[in-house]
Amino acid sequence: MGKLVIVDHPLIDHKLKIIRDETTGTKDFRQAVNEVGGLMAYEVTRDLPTKEVRVKTPICETTSRVLAKEVVIVPILRAGIGMVDGIHNLIPIAKIGHIGMYRDEETLVPNEYYAKFPEEMPESAVLLVDPMIATGGSVVMAIDAIKKRGAKDIRLVGLVAAPEGVKRINEEHPDVDIYVAALDEKLNDVGYIVPGLGDCGDRLFGTK
Ligand code: PRP
Ligand code: URA
Repeated sequence: MGKLVIVDHPLIDHKLKIIRDETTGTKDFRQAVNEVGGLMAYEVTRDLPTKEVRVKTPICETTSRVLAKEVVIVPILRAGIGMVDGIHNLIPIAKIGHIGMYRDEETLVPNEYYAKFPEEMPESAVLLVDPMIATGGSVVMAIDAIKKRGAKDIRLVGLVAAPEGVKRINEEHPDVDIYVAALDEKLNDVGYIVPGLGDCGDRLFGTK
């Protein structure tokens, strides 16, 4: 079974309070979500392979290490976009794919409306990004789509997860490790995470 890592850091705790707070405005919300993305990227990429290369410093030639694997960041639109810059700032060589999904408000079943990925998916570490893991339906469908493009090393980067969503992802994609900033209590009867942070897409982009 994939591991669940709750990334534990005082700065993440501090920023998560800002994100959860209903009085936080769009600008501060977007900034904090991006910053948590960057802090999480450090942990998510901890075991990426590196290889030895030669480098000439201003003083002499020496050996150094660089990433041995390509990295592709794949946000689930819309809310996933909120964490991309924070992660990309740390891994500027990463390519970015996109997958668009929205949940039917009644059935909570996701619909895929857009997908565009770089060619390097099979040999890359793919960081699938969605701040909200509620029923887990969107992530499961996105992983299906990514696997169809040949991806084998997939890591999920979330912000807040409900236990129901984590269970479903573990059952359907046991090879995918899940990294989140918080594991919340439950889903409410309209499929929102409790205590959660409300509608992440709307808070990021000022809609509704
Ligand atoms: C939200 C959120 C996740 C999804 C999680 O997207 O951003 O992608 O719901 O729910 P699930 O785990 O039950 O699938 P939404 O459908 O609201 O679209 P949006 O990001 O465009 O607002
Ligand atoms: N999507 C959100 O934006 N928030 C939730 O609580 C659940 C799904």
